[in-house]
Amino acid sequence: MKFIVVLSLAVSLLGRDPVRTRKAMVVAQEPIATDVGVEILKRGGNAYDAAVAVSFALAVTHPTAGNIGGGGFALLRTASGEANFIDFREKAPAKASRDMYLDAQGKPTRDSVVGWKASGVPGTVRGLALLHKKYGLLKWRDVVMPSVKLARNGFVVSYALARGLRGGERLLGQFPESKRLYLKQGNFYEAGEVIRFPELAKTLERIAKRGPDEFYQGVTAKLLAAEMAKNGGMVSEEDLKSYQAVERKPILGSYRGHEVIAAPPPSSGGIGMLQMMAMLERLDYAKAGMGSAKHAHLLAETMRRYYADRSQFLGDPDFVKIPLKGLLDPKYIASRADSISLDRATPSGELKHGPLPAEESEETTHLSIVDEKGNAVSLTYTLNGGYGSGVTVSGLGFLLNNEMDDFSAKPGAMNMYGAMGGEANAIAPGKRMLSSMTPTIVTKDGKLALVIGAPGGTRIITGVMQAILNVIDFKLNMQDAIDAPRMHHQWMPDKLYLERGWSPDTIEILKKLGHNVETGTPAVSNVHGILVEDKWLQGAPDGRSNGKAAGY
Ligand code: DON
Repeated sequence: MKFIVVLSLAVSLLGRDPVRTRKAMVVAQEPIATDVGVEILKRGGNAYDAAVAVSFALAVTHPTAGNIGGGGFALLRTASGEANFIDFREKAPAKASRDMYLDAQGKPTRDSVVGWKASGVPGTVRGLALLHKKYGLLKWRDVVMPSVKLARNGFVVSYALARGLRGGERLLGQFPESKRLYLKQGNFYEAGEVIRFPELAKTLERIAKRGPDEFYQGVTAKLLAAEMAKNGGMVSEEDLKSYQAVERKPILGSYRGHEVIAAPPPSSGGIGMLQMMAMLERLDYAKAGMGSAKHAHLLAETMRRYYADRSQFLGDPDFVKIPLKGLLDPKYIASRADSISLDRATPSGELKHGPLPAEESEETTHLSIVDEKGNAVSLTYTLNGGYGSGVTVSGLGFLLNNEMDDFSAKPGAMNMYGAMGGEANAIAPGKRMLSSMTPTIVTKDGKLALVIGAPGGTRIITGVMQAILNVIDFKLNMQDAIDAPRMHHQWMPDKLYLERGWSPDTIEILKKLGHNVETGTPAVSNVHGILVEDKWLQGAPDGRSNGKAAGY
């Protein structure tokens, strides 16, 4: 079949300017938190101080995902060019076991998604503390206190927050403390009202005064572990005490003359993006024509191939040997790319993970920050689902994650994002669950070019990659590159998900090629990025969200 290059509606919808500043930029998914970051930068803090302050602020103002009860990743590049990755992903508690989420018939239960049993050991406070200790300039107290004030004095509920809390009713309404705090006992917060979190303010204030040990060994740890034990949860004092955030080496790759600094395992995002980009470069994706059927077909076929590998090979690198070299081997990637037909979609049922060459040996949130010196940080953290497990610990005021669902409950079972996993991502005590979070930094000729990332479950990897490709290949500004309609394929289920905005002509061609197209799919992630030009920074929150870019 010949491809007709059809410029989709996608292109004609574009044309929104990003926020432009000269020196520094903060992009986050909630405006009050963005303002906290700008304030910290103006007070002499660097990008890392700002990232810590914004993360604590989001734990108050964006409770669906901002957290101290979850975990995440921070990818950073300093002005001097040092790149580092801080892994503060949650861990399975010591009491966790491989089949713990299977019922008597061997079917996965909902315990990994809702309630006390769903939580892994939170990593956020340790991760932010490590980022601050190693790279920050201001005092710890100064970066935590803005969140204390927000929680204590309250802030005005936005339309987005009011809608979000109402949307969380089914989950939050099951747990008395969450119902009281977030749903006003079922009376709901309206936009314009002031919301306060006094218990959370106290917890954050103790953390501000005593440091991260307060969360892991202090009053907070004791209360959390006691409530867990009372309610059948697993996280113990010992689990909290032994939790450590770790530094890992970012994975380095390239795409069409740009260097890509990517997230290593337990993120599946970096390997995925580099594999897909390498296939696309070989397939001359840049010439496909934005919005064309060829554009969507090439993306879908590379995505399908990567996700088949993901389910087989990826897990916590501290527990399983990940064949990183094999997965990124140019010959292997060439053979995967060459198996793509331009005339026909490969049915996922016909496709397996590759035989690798032998080796020698809905809800997360993201922030991107660049400071005056050129220090950059891309931080994604999460409770997993919106409002996590739904559980708020009485007296502590924060929501707990349901990250245990990111493990595969049994080989081949799908998690809440439809992701399938195998042996490599099976549950084991102390193990980190595989993640799709993909904080990414791109440089060109050794200079900072892009700082980007997103929430969105398995759609994070494909969403972040498409925004980057839109900049590099289609020369869009940061806002347009992010706002352009996206698509997603993850091998299984064998579906090509298209957001609104794709041309009907393109969709027809994709169907004829054999794609199982699903249109009008909800947002393929929520990308927040900064594009660095010679004299300007372009900041863009995703048009699909209520975020804000600001700086000076
Ligand atoms: O780490 C992961 O891959 C998931 N826990 C991320 C969840 C997420 O992005 C939900 N957001 N919309």
